[in-house]
Amino acid sequence: AAPSYDPGMTWLVTGGAGYIGGHVVRQLLEGGERVVVLDDLSSGERSRVPAGVPLLRGSTLDRAAVDEALREHRPTGLLHIAARKAVGESVERPLEYYRANLTGLQNVLESCVEHGVRRVLFSSSAAVYGLPDVDPVTESTPCAPLSPYGETKLAGEWLLAAAGRAHGLSTVALRYFNVAGAATPELADLGRSNLVPMVFEALTAGRRPLVFGTDYPTPDGTCVRDYIHVADVASAHLAALRRLAADPPGATSLVLNIGRGEGVSVRRMLEVIGRTTGYDATGQDAPRRPGDAASVVASAELIERELGWRAEYGIEEMIASAWQGWCARHPGARREGSKGS
Ligand code: WQD
Repeated sequence: AAPSYDPGMTWLVTGGAGYIGGHVVRQLLEGGERVVVLDDLSSGERSRVPAGVPLLRGSTLDRAAVDEALREHRPTGLLHIAARKAVGESVERPLEYYRANLTGLQNVLESCVEHGVRRVLFSSSAAVYGLPDVDPVTESTPCAPLSPYGETKLAGEWLLAAAGRAHGLSTVALRYFNVAGAATPELADLGRSNLVPMVFEALTAGRRPLVFGTDYPTPDGTCVRDYIHVADVASAHLAALRRLAADPPGATSLVLNIGRGEGVSVRRMLEVIGRTTGYDATGQDAPRRPGDAASVVASAELIERELGWRAEYGIEEMIASAWQGWCARHPGARREGSKGS
């Protein structure tokens, strides 16, 4: 059916065909905004971009493609979500990561300045904190990234803030904690590099899921993280861009955690995964993974104060929706008695 709302403003979303970008696009549309996607489809999927949303196939490394998108569509603002995000890979290929993540951002910012686009939102990460020794982690906790990936996100925040100050841009950097789940099965994460999909993969292959480290100084000895539903991550973007749209350009410069403020251990995740999937998800104890912090939990106070945003979904909904997405792609995975169907 035709939308009954007045079309809102237009926002260019780089990486809008990706896992997180696809969810952001969907939320923006539901919020009555207009969206244009720029994505090179290197890891994104065309099918994540809804009909009616222009998909410009191009890389943020191609300055001409970014210029063309801004000239053609004249957006109110830009959400720069396109990036490389595999932490381990970034250690092996730092030059590629710096180029993709920083040159990409630099192109985007130069083009915004040239075309008078003065509102920019940037996807950052809890990876900027490294091994924080405070709980919860506030935005003023010192940053000490442990990987080239985390470095590109921290340097990206600096570049964003400096360009914002010098050129009168309003900016928001959102530091995502551990993103999981899916709003619909088709939008699920296709990667296998995070806890939830790695456990699904082990279970459905008949293996026991590995628990990396059981002697951490945490209540049950396993690592504690702040898992956040991707639909909540997306609604934080909508709240942030509304703030950018309401403030005069150049007036805003925010760095905000996106988390729930609740720590969940690996053991607890396995329990919920077991109950949701119907598989025996008893973990196999394994050595600590290098570079893992015992506990990384967001303080979500600042984003609530600044944007009035807080997370809506819990662990159960993240895992059930991730499982639905997994089963949609691996039809043999579903078991008698498994939830999320
Ligand atoms: C979560 C916990 C593991 C797999 C990374 C990046 C971060 C962000 C999200 C991009 C850890 C444990 C995992 C398994 C396990 N990415 N684990 N068995 O490392 O917290 O964060 O992804 O922005 O920047 O660093 O996420 O999902 O890899 O691990 O025990 O098979 O699960 O040790 O404690 P992580 P993760």
